[in-house]
Order: sequence, then structure tokens, then C-alpha cells
Amino acid sequence: MEPVRITIFDTTLRDGEQSPGCSMNVHEKLRMAHQLDRLGVDVIEAGFPIASDGDFEAVQAIAAAIHRPKIAALARAHASDIERAWQALKGAARPRIHVFLATSDIHLKYKLRISRERCLEQARESVKLAKSFCDDVEFSPEDATRTDPDFLCDVVQAVVDAGATTVNIPDTVGYTIPTEYAQTIKMLRERVRGMENVVISVHCHDDLGMAVANTLAAVEAGARQVECTINGIGERAGNASLEEIVMALRVRADRYPHITGVVTEQLYPASQALSEITEVPVQPNKAIIGRNAFAHEAGIHQDGVLKNPLTYEIMTPHSVGVPDSRLVLGKHSGRHALSLRCEQLGYQFERRELDEVYRRFVVLADQIKHVEDHHLLELVREARNESPRIPPSQVEPSPVVIAAAVGRAERGFPASEVRGLEVQLSSVHEHQSEQEDYLWGV
Ligand code: KIV
Ligand code: ZN
Repeated sequence: MEPVRITIFDTTLRDGEQSPGCSMNVHEKLRMAHQLDRLGVDVIEAGFPIASDGDFEAVQAIAAAIHRPKIAALARAHASDIERAWQALKGAARPRIHVFLATSDIHLKYKLRISRERCLEQARESVKLAKSFCDDVEFSPEDATRTDPDFLCDVVQAVVDAGATTVNIPDTVGYTIPTEYAQTIKMLRERVRGMENVVISVHCHDDLGMAVANTLAAVEAGARQVECTINGIGERAGNASLEEIVMALRVRADRYPHITGVVTEQLYPASQALSEITEVPVQPNKAIIGRNAFAHEAGIHQDGVLKNPLTYEIMTPHSVGVPDSRLVLGKHSGRHALSLRCEQLGYQFERRELDEVYRRFVVLADQIKHVEDHHLLELVREARNESPRIPPSQVEPSPVVIAAAVGRAERGFPASEVRGLEVQLSSVHEHQSEQEDYLWGV
């Protein structure tokens, strides 16, 4: 069976940009749009032209410069918004107008102060107007997942009849759960006439941490476009993360008969570019592109990865563009990882010499989170100068260990903990037996 192609609609430059601290100027948006083009996304939502002159210019500049992906611009269901969106988009090779209007009772009553009848009419008329400018029109019933299901079917039917080519079902407030969201998609496919001729899109927010799970459940239920952002940036808790969706589909191709056009090796460069532009760092444990996503510190894990990366890695760092799997040297690391890093730094050891370096390493690693290369080089030099081997109980704190301890004191660690160094120095005996070699992942 042919895999089903999923359209990747990237909204980093629109919904993503709406997250605190993530706004971008025209030049920054253009730079990011080029990176999204290299990444191979199908649609770039470049902005919300009515929102500001800067956003208008950004959409215009991206539309003029980038021709492979479709370029979308957002508009509320008002004539002035739609006209402004079209003005910004009209130079694009493949333009799309994206119109949205809230449909849940809570939004209709408190935010828009309109009736359901008025909402239905406005949705229909705005799609018709957008269609008069552009063939490719997407409609989003905002807060769809909290909309009465019968009314949601009525609105979707109205916009399909008016010519929408994509209907997006946003989980605006990150409220839905996978089974429920899948049911909504199935319901629309069953109840809306002509639904088979439009693309069903999904757009999830991460307020309950389920944006990616909801997106994947919707894909299984028949959605063919997913809206997402790089690094999962977006309103409040963010949008569904592009890199997580794409890699879930790829790594679990055994369960998902779906493919995307994303060049996965460009995921990490895209994440880095966004973080650099917005100056918003990526959390270290972020799936796929976080600093620790391919880092192994525990000795048993390091040993396994060195023997065969498949033991603890379900995808290669290379496949997502991460330069190399990093073995983080810390207090849980074993001799195997230590000797490999030393080899990379140009040192090869006999077992006895390695033991000496390892003993010093364990003491230092107890004091600082990560043992960096420059620490290691110092340890190696000291261990070599001080051969023949000194019994562990007589090892003096080295300058590196003292520096680390002073650093801890400076960072506010209690003096008693820093003074406790001598005691810890003798505790290196603990890592000597073969059983502990195993536990420490040697
Ligand atoms: O979350 C949302 O509902 C949106 C729409 C504008 C699609 O971002
Ligand atoms: Zn959104």
C-alpha cells in the first residue's frame, strides 16, 4: 500500500511568533522562512498581515522570495482582514488565505457577542470573499474542540460549500485528548458532504502536554495536514512540535503508513536557527533537538551506545542533523566512556594508567555536573606526572578538584560540602571491584 503523504503546515512565523519573547522582525522572519524552505515544509504561514505593518511586510517579503512551499497569511473573518492578507500575499507563487472564526458558544457569547446564525453566515461569506482572491482557502473554526459537535458540522458544511479547500480543526486551548480528537475528525468525515474533497487539517496546542499525541491520533483518523512549529513554540504552552511529529511518523513507520516531505537532517539546524533568532533557548531535554536528546551520561548507557547505538538510541543523531552523539562525562560515567574521550583527545592508556585517571575523574565528577575536556586534560597530565601510581587514600586534591570545589563554594554550596572533599577522595575505593565496574558501566 502506498504511504499517505501528510502536508506539513509550519506556523512558527505566525502562531509560534505569538509566544512571549518569540516575536521576529522582517529580516529575521525571512531568514527563518529560508530555513523552513530548506527543511522541506509544504506550507509556511508567514504572518497575520492586519496585525501590524511589520507582519504585512514580512508576509510580502517571504511571498516574493520563497517559491516552492505555499505561503499562507492569516485573516479574521472580516473583509478588511481578508483584503489585507491578499495584498500581502498576491506576489506569492502559491498563495493561501487562512480565515478563522471562533465557533464555540463561550467564544460566541463572551468574545464575539454574536449568535450561531451570525457566525454561520460570517464563515460562509468570508470564505466566499477569500475565494474571490485566491483558489487556495483554508478555514479554521477557532476553539473547534469546545464547539457543539452539531454546530461544528454545520459550520464546516457551510465553508466546504463556499469553496474552502482545507478545513482546519484547531484545539485552540489544548483541551482535547487523543481519542476524542480522533472521534471529531471521524465525525466530520462521516457527516459533512464533500468532506472527501477537502484536506482536513489539525492544529493542536500543548496546554495538557498532548499536542503531538492529539495530532497523531487525528492523522490516524484521516487528517492529512498537520499544523506545527519548530521547537513547539506558540501561544501559552506552545503548539505541536514539528520535529516530534515528523520523527514519530518516521521512526514508527511500522505503525504510521504516512510520509512527509521534511528533510529530517535539517531539523536541528532549523531548531538552532530559531533559538538563535529569538534568543529563546531550547530546553535541554526537549525531544529530538534538545541538547540532551542524544547525550548519554549513565555508565551502562554509555557502554551500550558505544557497543551499538541501537541499545539506547531509536534514531541516529545524524538523521535529525545533530552533529554527533555526545557522551556527557559526569559522575555516573564509566571507564569505557572516559577512555574513549581521552582517546579523542589524543591519549591512550594502559589499564593501570586509566584507573589512575578514572580515580581522579570520579572525585572531580562528584564536585561538578559535567567534566569538560579541559578538566580531563588536566587530570591526565596530573595522573601522568604523578606515576607511579599513588594509592587512592593518599591522592591530594588536584588543582582541578580544588577549582571545582571553589566554584561550588562560589555558587553557594555549603562550606562543609566543599571541605568534605578529602573524605570523598578516599571514597574512590568504592569503584574498584569488578562488580562495580559493571554497575558503573565499564
Ligand atoms: O489556535 C488557534 O485556534 C489558531 C487559529 C487561528 C487557527 O491559531
Ligand atoms: Zn493556534
